[in-house]
Amino acid sequence: LQGLKGKDCLTLTDYTPEEIQALIKLAVKLKQEQKAGVKNTALQGKVLAMMFDKPSTRTRVSFAVGMAQLGGQFLELSSKEMQYGRGESLEDTARTLSGYVDAIMIRTFSQQMVEELAKHATVPVINGLTDLYHPCQALADLLTLMEEKGDLSRVKLAYVGDGNNVLHSLMHGAAAVGMTLTIATPKGYEPLPKVWDEIEKVAKQTGAQIQFYYDPMEAVKEADAIYTDVWASMGQEEEKEKRKKDFAEYQVNETLMKQAKADAIFMHCLPAYRGLEVTAEVIDGPQSVVFQQAENRLHAQKALLLSLLG
Ligand code: CP
Ligand code: NVA
Repeated sequence: LQGLKGKDCLTLTDYTPEEIQALIKLAVKLKQEQKAGVKNTALQGKVLAMMFDKPSTRTRVSFAVGMAQLGGQFLELSSKEMQYGRGESLEDTARTLSGYVDAIMIRTFSQQMVEELAKHATVPVINGLTDLYHPCQALADLLTLMEEKGDLSRVKLAYVGDGNNVLHSLMHGAAAVGMTLTIATPKGYEPLPKVWDEIEKVAKQTGAQIQFYYDPMEAVKEADAIYTDVWASMGQEEEKEKRKKDFAEYQVNETLMKQAKADAIFMHCLPAYRGLEVTAEVIDGPQSVVFQQAENRLHAQKALLLSLLG
């Protein structure tokens, strides 16, 4: 993907619909090649630094393994062990790291901080999740939906739960591929108005339909897939009990799954909490594709790394 070389990935709106579709296509190819045992060491000699201010299992491991499979190397840095954790400026951190590594992946709280880092870094910066967005997750989710349901412009995905980072990036992704995305959240937990503004133009261009409901039963009607995420994201630990009450009607269970198409799949970015946002029956049942989604983080991010660094 020539056009992406040297670019950042701070949010999916950094890319055109064509670029997002090309990334998914490349991910499909890389997945096939890897399954067939074909070696691709295009990133030999390249190093990715990964900075974590929040915990991670999938993002951490899939980026590390992705770099290794492509012949490159990675470094794991936690804020606690870096000088920026005790006051060194982001600008100095970005300029220093840019002299050593070929790209920086960062997971943190504030999107603004990621943008600040990218502004001063001379190498690509990849958003590995902020409070606002999770672009790498959305790429993997589009790949999963395509594998399961084919032509994305004919897919109806229903998201039920919190209007959070995962939903915001899914909205960007859905808009880019012309998908139908229905959303149901409780009052007070809607996706941010800013994100509706961000997708408006692209959705018009691609024909994507993004619709909002408060009623989860309405949102999942005729859906090909139902997606949910945790009710309390990282950083919202104190709100756990309040959220448990506010989201009680938004659990994905057998009753809700039955409102969707008979062959609907269940999606979740993980980590998941059985008995809260989803029942064990659903997430461990035959309709669930959550571990395929988790695996697809690897393939989607390899496509991204190759495109930004290759
Ligand atoms: N889905 C996801 O980003 O998982 P981790 O928090 O484990 O990285
Ligand atoms: N919304 C969740 C996603 C975790 C991958 C969080 O931010 O904690």
